[in-house]
Amino acid sequence: MSAKHFINDATTLVSTALQSLTLTNPTVALDAEHKIVYRRPTNGEKQVSILSGGGSGHEPSFAGMVGPGMLSAAVAGSIFASPSAEQVRVGITSRVDPDKGILVVVMNYTGDILNFGMAVEKAKAAGSSVEMVVVGDDVGVGRAKAGKVGRRGIAGTVLVLKIAGALAAQGRSLAEVAKVARLVSDNIVSVGASLEHVHVPGRSADSSDGLALGEVEIGMGIHNEPGSARAKLDLPQLVDRMLTQLLDQSDKDRAFVNVNSNEVVLLINNLGGVSVLEMGGITAEVVSQLGSKHNIKPVRIISGTFMTSLNGLGFSITLLNVVNTDIGGPSMIELLDAPSEVQGWSAPIQKTTWEAKNEATRTGNTSVGQEVKPSGLKMDPAVEKTAITTALERVIAAEPEITRYDTVVGDGDCGIGLKRGAEAVLKHLSSKPLTGDVVVDVASIVPVIENTMDGTSGALYAIFFNALVLALRTLSPGEANAQTWATALQQSCEALSKYTPARPGDRTLVDALYPFVDVLNTSGDLTKAAEAALKAAEETKGMQASLGRAVYVGGSGHEEVPDPGAWGLAVFFLGLAGLKPADDGWEKI
Ligand SMILES: *[C@@H]1O[C@H](CO)[C@@H](O)[C@H](O)[C@H]1NC(C)=O
Ligand SMILES: *[C@@H]1O[C@H](CO)[C@@H](O)[C@H](O)[C@H]1NC(C)=O
Ligand SMILES: *[C@@H]1O[C@H](CO)[C@@H](O)[C@H](O)[C@H]1NC(C)=O
Repeated sequence: MSAKHFINDATTLVSTALQSLTLTNPTVALDAEHKIVYRRPTNGEKQVSILSGGGSGHEPSFAGMVGPGMLSAAVAGSIFASPSAEQVRVGITSRVDPDKGILVVVMNYTGDILNFGMAVEKAKAAGSSVEMVVVGDDVGVGRAKAGKVGRRGIAGTVLVLKIAGALAAQGRSLAEVAKVARLVSDNIVSVGASLEHVHVPGRSADSSDGLALGEVEIGMGIHNEPGSARAKLDLPQLVDRMLTQLLDQSDKDRAFVNVNSNEVVLLINNLGGVSVLEMGGITAEVVSQLGSKHNIKPVRIISGTFMTSLNGLGFSITLLNVVNTDIGGPSMIELLDAPSEVQGWSAPIQKTTWEAKNEATRTGNTSVGQEVKPSGLKMDPAVEKTAITTALERVIAAEPEITRYDTVVGDGDCGIGLKRGAEAVLKHLSSKPLTGDVVVDVASIVPVIENTMDGTSGALYAIFFNALVLALRTLSPGEANAQTWATALQQSCEALSKYTPARPGDRTLVDALYPFVDVLNTSGDLTKAAEAALKAAEETKGMQASLGRAVYVGGSGHEEVPDPGAWGLAVFFLGLAGLKPADDGWEKI
């Protein structure tokens, strides 16, 4: 468990967190002395007031649920401790509108039942119209083991608050709101699982929660209460166990609710410390097993952070068995879908969207738009093939050398990457002969480069060659000569420069590329251009890298070897001209 916190004083933590709600939501106010967050009075229609609360540490429950469509007030205790009866009494008698009656919803914990219960009795004695509904949705600990303690309330409580809150907002009577709240409470089951206990800010850190790496506690409560079992389970096994606890009607120790409605709501709740990414994976697993093993296809699937255990590394699964509310009015689903303006509830997908059940997909041919039309820019395919094949073979032969350079200044994968690309293009050429239409020929090589070369240089090559195809097309039709290539390459360099800040002098492949293109343009001579690239590649020796991984490698390697990317490209250009590097410049192959 992590005992690291930004706020270590538990009192400050709770009071500032409550205050923050008034900062981020203008509809709520705070009675700081009694730790009550309540809806500011308005001139709107009167409605039944709903009050809830409990220990802090379960945010956004409960203060984050205060606002139009949900709670009228929430009373907070200190972390994991019930508020006092006096706090609750103040909440009931003077922080909510009593005119249409007050519903108090409380989770089944001894302290909460006593303190909220005492306050309810006092308010009733004083003439208020108050009803109390107790939620105990947790099936984590079965009847035998729970004994007199009974079922605790966990995340399912939020569904009770949401549905009752929506009904109250519609102006229904206290009797109706209380009835529906009880009905929801009677039809929800939840179970949690955690990978470790949580640390309470301000308390001494006890790191021995006994959970080993890979071990999970099923049914752990939201205050570190022990669950029913600890085991080493992977996610599918864990979800299987949890769903069995929720649904198995033959388990006499549980079987609290028979989930048999044709409308079931699934709530997957983050206990506070699970990454959003992992919550996604958990949700997918739960939905998959509900369907395949229990034939349940929820009509609403809600996944998010609703009732936490501080930064608990766990989650809970809640199922609501939707039943008829029998009040001649909105269904549970409609109430769940109804709008609310609170920070702690989010079910962003609308009723109409769920019910549309749109299952359309896009299955269009992924190759469309990739086909290349002939350009009429011609070159002798035999000449093309010899030049490219020689150049690629030279790159493959130079792999050990390039790898050695990259081991000194980079992460050592440059040579292998170039070799892989070169081999793939050679293989492609052997199965798909060049046509002599240079646009078609270059374009056919582009996907091979894209699919085999990865990393930054792969992306740079891909951009460069795509730009080359476009540039060559603008120069078509005609006979492709050195001038055509130089112009097209120049345009490709320009395109490349939009996506990388690399310029000559930065110790990248650009150091070999630019001189090649320039000299080809001015001289029209491939050999001279390749020679210029070789010279420039050699001159990268001693240059400091200002881009790419080589920057982080540091050391003095850059004094000893040329940039491997620039070197590889120079070898390729020499190969195009039928040359290879030699001790003193180059020699004919
Ligand atoms: C709450 O717990 C008590 C025991 O303390 C138990 O008798 C009761 O059934 C529980 N209530 C709910 C709603 O689960
Ligand atoms: C997809 O489109 C490509 C190019 O237009 C075509 O060659 C191929 O046959 C199409 N494939 C299918 C499955 O339609
Ligand atoms: C390419 O060469 C021609 C002369 O052959 C010159 O006019 C032109 O400016 C050169 N282009 C670039 C970008 O250097």
